[in-house]
Amino acid sequence: MKKRIFSGAQPTGQLHIGNYLGALKNWVALQDEYEAFYCIVNLHAITLPQDPAGLRKATLDLARIYLAAGVDPSRSTIFIQSDVPEHAELTWVLSCIARMGELERMTQFKDKGKGNAERAGVGLFTYPVLMAADILLYQTDLVPVGQDQKQHLELCRDIAERFNRDYGETFKLPDPYIPPVGASIKSLQDPEKKMSKSDENPNGSILLLDDADTVTKKIKRAVTDSGTTIDFDETRPAISNLLSIYQILTEKTRHECVEHFQGKGYGHFKTELAETVVEFLRPFQERVREFDDETIKSILQPGGERAREIAADTLGDVYVALGIE
Ligand code: TRP
Repeated sequence: MKKRIFSGAQPTGQLHIGNYLGALKNWVALQDEYEAFYCIVNLHAITLPQDPAGLRKATLDLARIYLAAGVDPSRSTIFIQSDVPEHAELTWVLSCIARMGELERMTQFKDKGKGNAERAGVGLFTYPVLMAADILLYQTDLVPVGQDQKQHLELCRDIAERFNRDYGETFKLPDPYIPPVGASIKSLQDPEKKMSKSDENPNGSILLLDDADTVTKKIKRAVTDSGTTIDFDETRPAISNLLSIYQILTEKTRHECVEHFQGKGYGHFKTELAETVVEFLRPFQERVREFDDETIKSILQPGGERAREIAADTLGDVYVALGIE
């Protein structure tokens, strides 16, 4: 029996190369070894206000990006969260298990709620409970997530353990999956910050749908550190970040990259990096264009059905354990 993995992304904002290198690339690589569930979490998206037409389009666009990146619907289940109503149902149950104090400690709530709990939506507060439901419904073994989601995963385990203790063994406890090559890509404008969908400075991230000119301009404008050598160096986070992007895209070792640019200057390096990124994005964007809405829907629909079978089983067990069914 293959172990099961579950991950998801919100259909908000435009995906950037950091999302690809940090998450999607791993999702694709994990498909053989694991039984994978990749979800488009549109119910999470509405924890902040969304334009309805924009959300509908972004949902299909995100599926297009998963598929273009190489997520393969014959091996992995790709689905939209709202197509499986058990996610919302289990969220209610788990919100009776989770504690206010636990949720109040979630740093993402403090960030996204901008410290103003009085004005924040209740859904933003219970966001991690919905995420726990996502994971627990599938009896997930491993969850590939970035550093910023570790706290949510811890909470998910705590909720599952409490439920199991109080109502009998029902949920598998999921572990975080840490990718072998850690790839936390930073902003091109501020290497102390993660490359982010919500960055106000468009030059901070290379979007997966950026054209060649835009990519080249953004890389030329990327901040660099003082110094001249092209090297991985903790004291020079900007050049290290750019070099990481190069390394992961070319699948070279760190040593090979450093050797390759030995004696070369920043200008030369940036030109070659821009070419590498453009060469990677070109076929990717072609694949994105090939998936029309009908094709996407014909993949998401059976994905939702397959997911729902498993989710309904788990929810049935939960209701029996609680005395509801
Ligand atoms: N909260 C995650 C993020 O913002 C998205 C997400 C929702 C998720 N449900 C999940 C990730 C379940 C992993 C597993 O990145």
